[in-house]
Amino acid sequence: MLSVRDIINWLASMPGLKSVFGSKSIFGSQSRSKFSLRSQDIRESNIRDAARLVVQLSNKRRIVNLGQGLPEFPADDILKQAAKAALDANFNQYSNTWGYIDLRQAVANKFRRYNNIVCDPETEITVTCGASEAIHAAMQAIVDPNDEVIIIEPFYENYLPDVLMAGAIPRYVRLQGPNFLLDEAELARAFNKRTRAILVNTPHNPTGRVFTQEELAHIARLCQKWNVVAIADEIYEYMIYGNHKHISLATLPGMKERTITISGLSKTFSVTGWRLGYMAAPADYTRQIRKLHDYITLAAPSPLQMAGITALNLPDDFYRQMSAKYQTARDQLMEAVGKAGFKFSIPEGTYYLFTDASHLGFEDDRAAWEYLLKEHGIATVAGYCFFRPEVKTNYLRFCYAKYPSTIEEGAKRLLQLVAANCEQEK
Ligand SMILES: Cc1ncc(COP(=O)(O)O)c(C=O)c1O
Repeated sequence: MLSVRDIINWLASMPGLKSVFGSKSIFGSQSRSKFSLRSQDIRESNIRDAARLVVQLSNKRRIVNLGQGLPEFPADDILKQAAKAALDANFNQYSNTWGYIDLRQAVANKFRRYNNIVCDPETEITVTCGASEAIHAAMQAIVDPNDEVIIIEPFYENYLPDVLMAGAIPRYVRLQGPNFLLDEAELARAFNKRTRAILVNTPHNPTGRVFTQEELAHIARLCQKWNVVAIADEIYEYMIYGNHKHISLATLPGMKERTITISGLSKTFSVTGWRLGYMAAPADYTRQIRKLHDYITLAAPSPLQMAGITALNLPDDFYRQMSAKYQTARDQLMEAVGKAGFKFSIPEGTYYLFTDASHLGFEDDRAAWEYLLKEHGIATVAGYCFFRPEVKTNYLRFCYAKYPSTIEEGAKRLLQLVAANCEQEK
């Protein structure tokens, strides 16, 4: 029979609980691992792992990459010229750690114009190395070990490691039904007096949802009831389709003083490798966040910050054209994926299509993902990457930030897949 000691040690060794218990063996007979408990709690990025396999296979055959969320397109020439000019003008040393003031001013203008958020570039805006760093620094600034942080599931895979690196405990709220709706009762159950923060991503990766005023109002009400900070990740804010409207959580009554609004240039300007992100937060939060940002990365790359000013000053037409281009790509991909029998709800925003791949008949989406990649040369992202570690799912995420010709080739291969499956059934 198991002793209490065995049970406690077994619990302490479970993934996700090691840092809560603080030791691998509570009763101390095991020697210390040479790695931190934190690093052992965190799983390797599945998306990056998958991307490496795609590169390996690409040496043997052409892979149609509808997987990792990076645009296939080059950055606009104006931005490339601005980056080159900044290098020539010797913007080669550290910038102000919070970001060049001209860039922070451009960010403040954009927040006022597009998001309806008024903030002071001197005291409320910080430029970071991507939205990823902004989320990490914000988490480090507000969350203590054993606080709870609410993660809406499925979720962008960085969120869980960010919570764990702060020593906090994730509380998941699953989006409901085939349309991935945020259920008020489900959300309310996750809040309690240990809740410190909630991560809210709209437009939402991977589902393509754009949260409605009503859904955001539920979040706002509960944040105020439980004195919780919202970290609003709005990186896909310009990719919005049809009648859907991007609403920044910080604009809801009572939310500006408790919301850290994060975005960046990666997706909007097709420059994921430039590593430029930014956030707006009330001045007292910003003071704390800036200290951590300074010690995490010091500053974002100086010449690219200069080019970022040009990017943020592009006329409204740039955004309209970009959104229209993605909507056309979305429709093209939906048609192909639909013909191949995948079920999905129509993306309202982002550049992702999150599909149910159950009809392929695999045990889980990792197997379906491998089959599509190895047998048909189509790269996607397996759905389990967007869920807590123990969950098995049957989703595949397709990215449509691709040229029409890439999506067309993907469509051809999906039809071959249908034909292969029909053959097998005969
Ligand atoms: C929801 C979400 N937030 C943040 C990021 C990362 O953005 P950045 O490149 O600015 O770090 C991504 C990238 O895929 C994302 O999907």
